[in-house]
Amino acid sequence: MNDREKLLAVPCRPDFDRIGSSIEAARCLPAEAYTAERYLEIERRTLFSNRWICVGLVDDVPEPGDATPLEVAGKSVIMTRDRAGAVHVFHNYCRHRGLKILAEPVRGRSRFTCPYHAWTYALDGRLVRAPHFDGPGRHRARPVDGLARVRSTVWHRLVFVNLSGHAPEFADWIAPLERRWARYDLSTLRHAESRSCDIAANWKLAVENFIDYYHLPYVHKGLNSYSAMEDHYPIREGDTFFGQGNASYAPSDEAAGGLPSFPGLDRAERSITEAICLFPNLLVTLFDDNLRIILVEPDGAGGCRERIEVFVAGDEAMAPELAPVRHALVERFQSFNVEDIAIVEGLQDAFATTAFDGGRLSPAFDANIHHFHRLVAAQTRA
Ligand code: FES
Ligand SMILES: [Fe+2]
Repeated sequence: MNDREKLLAVPCRPDFDRIGSSIEAARCLPAEAYTAERYLEIERRTLFSNRWICVGLVDDVPEPGDATPLEVAGKSVIMTRDRAGAVHVFHNYCRHRGLKILAEPVRGRSRFTCPYHAWTYALDGRLVRAPHFDGPGRHRARPVDGLARVRSTVWHRLVFVNLSGHAPEFADWIAPLERRWARYDLSTLRHAESRSCDIAANWKLAVENFIDYYHLPYVHKGLNSYSAMEDHYPIREGDTFFGQGNASYAPSDEAAGGLPSFPGLDRAERSITEAICLFPNLLVTLFDDNLRIILVEPDGAGGCRERIEVFVAGDEAMAPELAPVRHALVERFQSFNVEDIAIVEGLQDAFATTAFDGGRLSPAFDANIHHFHRLVAAQTRA
């Protein structure tokens, strides 16, 4: 048994009854839910397989012929853009004996070939050649199906997949958010900047921190000076999304007001920012002139990677002369992120180095964290 198998063999039965329905009586998820590899496996088989999960951006495959491997729920998948420009997601295994088809991103290909016996696939997944399938020199074009397709959809520039195939229709699932943000023309989004960071903490701690505005005056004194804790309002829409907003957001740094807003926003709307978790692991912040996502990808039970992508509103916002403004915007986000990462890693450390096993929550500020815990518990019990 290797180390990973040993970790997975440890029994894992987190006490979820403690979460209950009342926040006053509730205790948080137990430490085991943040530290046990076995529990991460359960999350992968349930939460991350059953729901719509953002796996990347259409910008990951910008041109026809591009393909890139990505991971979801611990499984490798391939995103491709075919010759007609359509984006597809497939499982990353060959239909013959199962070798991974793609290890690295590729550009401008018309097809890809399995390294083992050279079965060859088009970027729309069709198997186009199985050499010597019927004997030496007797090739066959299509002896079996092409690459196994993963249920996927593109929402603005984001690509979502549903591994189980049983999630509700994507359009129905996303409809409440479409309605909420109907005044923002998200079709204008242009990809501006990317960042990523590795965090030594379970993915749920990063999500919980994002929906926590209780800590603003203590951890983010700068941010709190123009986006104060007490100015926030909670947002909750069933098990689809939850988070918080602020209707008097007024930064004053060099990025403020430097980019064009989404078209048609009125004066009041230009002071709104909303930050939501699209359950379970996509964090989206909407401003009047940009949208930022943080895709929180588990990396073992005790780690995660944040993929941070910033989009601006319209071609004009991508003008070269606005590069310093876009850069300043990203640096603003990053400075808050650095403050958060230290805290989040401290929370993970406490599970290992203290007797902490899940705390008590503030009814005034922690209702979304309680909600998140209830959803995680309910959807990983199966
Ligand atoms: S495993 Fe891919 S061609 Fe044989
Ligand atoms: Fe924070």
